Amino acid sequence: MLRHGLLWLSERQGIANFLRTNPLAWKFASRFVAGEEVDDAVSAALALRGADITATVDLLGESVADTADAGGARDQYLTLLDQLAAKGLEVNVSVKPTQMGLDIDASLCAANIGTIIDKAAEFSGFVRIDMESSEYTQRTLDLYRELGGSQRSHAGVVIQSALRRSAGDVEDLLAAGTRVRLCKGAYLEPPDVAFPAKADVDANFVALMERLLLEGNYPAIATHDERIITHAQRFADQHQIAPERFEFQMLYGVRRDVQQQLRTSGARVRVYIPFGRYWYPYLMRRLAERPSNVAFMVANLFRESVKRS
Ligand code: FDA
Repeated sequence: MLRHGLLWLSERQGIANFLRTNPLAWKFASRFVAGEEVDDAVSAALALRGADITATVDLLGESVADTADAGGARDQYLTLLDQLAAKGLEVNVSVKPTQMGLDIDASLCAANIGTIIDKAAEFSGFVRIDMESSEYTQRTLDLYRELGGSQRSHAGVVIQSALRRSAGDVEDLLAAGTRVRLCKGAYLEPPDVAFPAKADVDANFVALMERLLLEGNYPAIATHDERIITHAQRFADQHQIAPERFEFQMLYGVRRDVQQQLRTSGARVRVYIPFGRYWYPYLMRRLAERPSNVAFMVANLFRESVKRS
């Protein structure tokens, strides 16, 4: 119930406008967001490198309705790629299609993402096309398929185990040799499209993960779910799948203990580092995943306001 409420709130622009300028809200968001500037994201990636963990960097922003804003976001990515390379960091970013203009025009979005991929390719880098809500699933997969062959080899997609269609999508992507990140799915979806029960989402995750581990092209297992992570490691051992053939991915600020334990065990770990001004919907999705975070945030906001009064 609370999850649904928070996900509904994540789509309310009026609340976003109010919270974006609220220092207390930012204080909480900064647990999950590296900062507002490119430099902040690069510093976070450097710190992770110190812990032998790689990164994929995401400029926050979605549902862009203006061509100039989509171009501005594309240009910020180009700057980011330069700065990652200048620091000798792996050039690896995650991009949301609606930030690149998918709601305006699919060919504009393809051109913007293509420009980012071409530049990433100059640095032997990689661009992950994030997956948004189910109304974009087909268009996002089409966008990937329509990239040029050399662009596709520097790009990958995301599959959400919450969606009923995902088993079929995974088979198509395996056949095409596409690099896939598997996650559970962060959006509020109708029951005809997505499994309403979390147990079914988790079971589907395990089934799709096994398919990707066995036959996938360097799959990314994106979860903080320790039960699933343990299952992945056992399954890989049983099938002689070397730790270099896949990676675990986690979100910045979430389960740092597990990130480090995995790294110590010899697994590959990549952390998704979001940065930028448009952090509100991202924050609400993180709160929805773990409602105890809401209590933590409310308690902190309350403590701060008592101190100030
Ligand atoms: P689940 O929600 O079941 O949580 C398992 C455990 O993880 C919890 O019990 C808790 O311990 C911990 N945990 C999870 N979230 C937490 C939080 N916010 N704070 C504190 N602890 C938390 N989604 C999407 O729709 N499209 C996408 O492109 C992506 N991309 C993506 C990249 C990466 C690298 C990750 C890790 C995740 C995504 N996601 C995503 C988000 C994903 O769909 C999902 O919403 C979250 O990862 C939470 O699900 P878990 O698999 O962690 O399991």
